[in-house]
Amino acid sequence: MQTLDLDKASLFDFFDIENANIMKRANIFSKYAARIRELKHDYYRRVSLVGSNPVMQIMDRHTNSPKEMVYMASNDYLNLTHHPRTIAAGMKALQKYGSGAGSVPLLGGTFDIHVELEKKIAKFKGCENAILYSSGYGANTGSLLGLLNGKDVAILDRLVHASIIDGCKATNVKFFRHNDLKSLEKILDKAKKEYRTKLIIVDGVYSMDGDIAPLDKIVELAKIYGAFVMVDEAHATGVIGKNGRGTPEYFEIEGKVDIVAGTFSKALGAVGGFVAANQELVELLHFYSRAYMFSTAPTPQVVGSLLEAINVIEDEPELRANLWKNINYFRKNLLDLGFDLGNSQTAIFPIIIGDDFKVKEACRILHERGVYANLVLYPAVPRKLARLRLSLMAAHTREHLDKALNALEYAGKKLGIV
Ligand SMILES: Cc1ncc(COP(=O)(O)O)c(C=O)c1O
Repeated sequence: MQTLDLDKASLFDFFDIENANIMKRANIFSKYAARIRELKHDYYRRVSLVGSNPVMQIMDRHTNSPKEMVYMASNDYLNLTHHPRTIAAGMKALQKYGSGAGSVPLLGGTFDIHVELEKKIAKFKGCENAILYSSGYGANTGSLLGLLNGKDVAILDRLVHASIIDGCKATNVKFFRHNDLKSLEKILDKAKKEYRTKLIIVDGVYSMDGDIAPLDKIVELAKIYGAFVMVDEAHATGVIGKNGRGTPEYFEIEGKVDIVAGTFSKALGAVGGFVAANQELVELLHFYSRAYMFSTAPTPQVVGSLLEAINVIEDEPELRANLWKNINYFRKNLLDLGFDLGNSQTAIFPIIIGDDFKVKEACRILHERGVYANLVLYPAVPRKLARLRLSLMAAHTREHLDKALNALEYAGKKLGIV
């Protein structure tokens, strides 16, 4: 193999190295990882000492000491990971049911609180029933692999989450341009008679861009062309819609989306995933979704916390109001400073820089100034769209936001971004 220039390499270069077995590949990759550490561009896996909080203590590997940082890399949008009610409910369930479910859901691992959560999340999402998974990733891959095969087609927005793409490995896949209804319609028209099931799959809110799918129009198109619609509500739940119920509520089409998938790991503050649909589809998944059948049911403590998390979203709309106050303030100031935020409309702020090296440098400057942001580089996004990714929480204060804005302004000017 040719020698790689480690300073110009990206993760893409290590996917497949000709003639390198797994150990050799790991050895070559380790040199790249070491070079990134040397440049202080290693901003993955920063270790929190306090969980997910608006201000967190991390163990700074550059100084080997704790560092306080404004945390803008969490999907814990409403800070429910630390809400007294979700903690108390989790502890109560832990005491009553123990620390694990003990079995897979079909064969002994289904408790009354699992059924309660299935019903509660289904109602929250305007569907008849729901099935629970151990992660959002598992919900998407597990349901899609159980539903679609070679006679079907999944029609995906180009920017859907990786778990959806992975879930479509056993079926035919067509991509349409991001949020582009004309491109979707073209594919639907071509696919008219060819496939048994046509399933359009979109994210409600896109995880790297923070924009919203035109779900109302997508549902209309699906009806015309005899397709079904699935939406991944990972970043929409708790954030958009009048009552935080997500994208169908935002567009006032609750009950009209065939399959609503989501994760419990973001605004709901715990871990796990779900697929909500009509009763018959949920029952089919009980017996044909291998990630459900062959994986132990979610832990009672998590289920207890989640039941209460949904109550909190319903009872405490002020959390969502605070989040939106923060979003509006941050957005206005970033735009005033001249940053490119793409089409972001929600709590996810892509700060598009378009140069991998500058993104890493910006991340380093922010880190040194006590702001924890993520970096998103090629091949996760095209090189010209390389970016910082910041996300806001309800509990960020004006002081936290200003600290981040000041650091971003400094980095932006120093690197010629604004
Ligand atoms: C859009 C989207 N779907 C699914 C997932 C997977 O969820 P989980 O982290 O619960 O596995 C994520 C993020 O992690 C996501 O951003």
